Amino acid sequence: MKRYVIAGASSRCHEMFAKPIVTNFKEQAELAGIFDINRTRAEYMSKDTDPSIPVYTDFDLMMKECAPDTVIVATVDRYHHEYIIKALDYGCDAITEKPMTIDEVTCNAILDRERETGKKVIVTFNLRFVPHITRIKELIDEGAVGKILSVNLEYLLDTTHGADYFRRWHRRKENSGGLLVHKSTHHFDLINWWTGEEPEVVYANGSTRFYGPTREKRSERCLTCSYTGECEFAVRYQDDPYMNEMYFKAEKEDGYFRDRCVFSDEIDIEDSMSVAVKYSKGALLTYSLIAYSPYEAYKISVTGTDGRLEMMAYLSGYGADGDANQILVFNRRGERVTYEIKKEWGMHGGSDERLQRMLFCNDMPDPLGLLAGSYDGAKSIMIGICANKSIKENRPVFVKDLLPGQK
Ligand SMILES: NC(=O)c1ccc[n+]([C@@H]2O[C@H](COP(=O)([O-])OP(=O)(O)OC[C@H]3O[C@@H](n4cnc5c(N)ncnc54)[C@H](O)[C@@H]3O)[C@@H](O)[C@H]2O)c1
Repeated sequence: MKRYVIAGASSRCHEMFAKPIVTNFKEQAELAGIFDINRTRAEYMSKDTDPSIPVYTDFDLMMKECAPDTVIVATVDRYHHEYIIKALDYGCDAITEKPMTIDEVTCNAILDRERETGKKVIVTFNLRFVPHITRIKELIDEGAVGKILSVNLEYLLDTTHGADYFRRWHRRKENSGGLLVHKSTHHFDLINWWTGEEPEVVYANGSTRFYGPTREKRSERCLTCSYTGECEFAVRYQDDPYMNEMYFKAEKEDGYFRDRCVFSDEIDIEDSMSVAVKYSKGALLTYSLIAYSPYEAYKISVTGTDGRLEMMAYLSGYGADGDANQILVFNRRGERVTYEIKKEWGMHGGSDERLQRMLFCNDMPDPLGLLAGSYDGAKSIMIGICANKSIKENRPVFVKDLLPGQK
């Protein structure tokens, strides 16, 4: 049985790793320790999963006392690299939440350290495990569109999910790399995985005109704001028992307010982004992300030498309650084939449960290469990191300049 410890008692870690390990995978995995710099949050995770699991605010002490095989890293993005590298140095493997890290220096340091130690880093790209996304990979590998020439991906975050990134640590690029790293790492990973090509050149534009200091009536946070009666973004997270335990009761330790104002001056991430990528064998990606759509959805089209594949998934609002997603494949004989992919209702469209099985039941076959490693993590963040640089410097940025070991 493998021993796991946690770095980062985050809400993601709670649902994705801590609870499933102690309930669904207790034959295969043991959760030996929980570390977070915030003791209240770490203690709550232990209490809510298995109160016998020890809690630490000192990572090294946890590593010494718990002697794990694998460290699960699920902290604020800017600290991922610290715990991944420490895990490798302790002779452990690391399973890290996305994004693997947020800049090129720490990204290259992770790749180097992994190679030097011979240990392994897994990046949990759960989006790959959504049934219709996996099916697209199968169709592409079977030759449904021939050689890929062009990909379009439009991702729409709604004003519930999208706004949340502007309420907390994600809203500072120094913490998350902005949405082009934090969020788009999932999307760029899919394109890298589907095309099997290396991203080569990135050009991007971005702006913040919906959130940020766009209105007069604003405050530090909703809890103490006098405009909540008239603000459509006002939240009362303190009324939710889970949010209250996780964040409001813990904020005295670190000032992490879960309900900061989405119209703050402090926000320096974009809410509208558009990116163009050229790949090593010539495929072109046109990508956009907005964080203020009236509904949440994504639209994908992949066009190749032999045809075109289209898919649109509605995640909230209009169209979201159907029980299947459709993939349409158009060939060059004028035919259209429709693939109905039944939705699964687990976390993130059933993808989290599938990923957990692959992570914790070691004997699962993986012919499609669903489980992503450090190089997949690196390539996907590198597009976002290059895009950020391109926005700042208004020029195309070459991935190889930031990722010298690119294959
Ligand atoms: N794959 C997915 O679908 C998915 C979904 C949500 C979040 N995530 C990822 O999970 C991670 C956690 O996100 P969340 O929204 O659940 O976070 P969160 O805000 O709930 O928690 C962040 C945690 O990090 C801790 N922390 C802050 N600084 C630290 C440090 N220096 N060392 C150790 N711990 C520190 C905080 O105390 C807090 O407990 C992020 O990397 C995010 O990208 C992935």
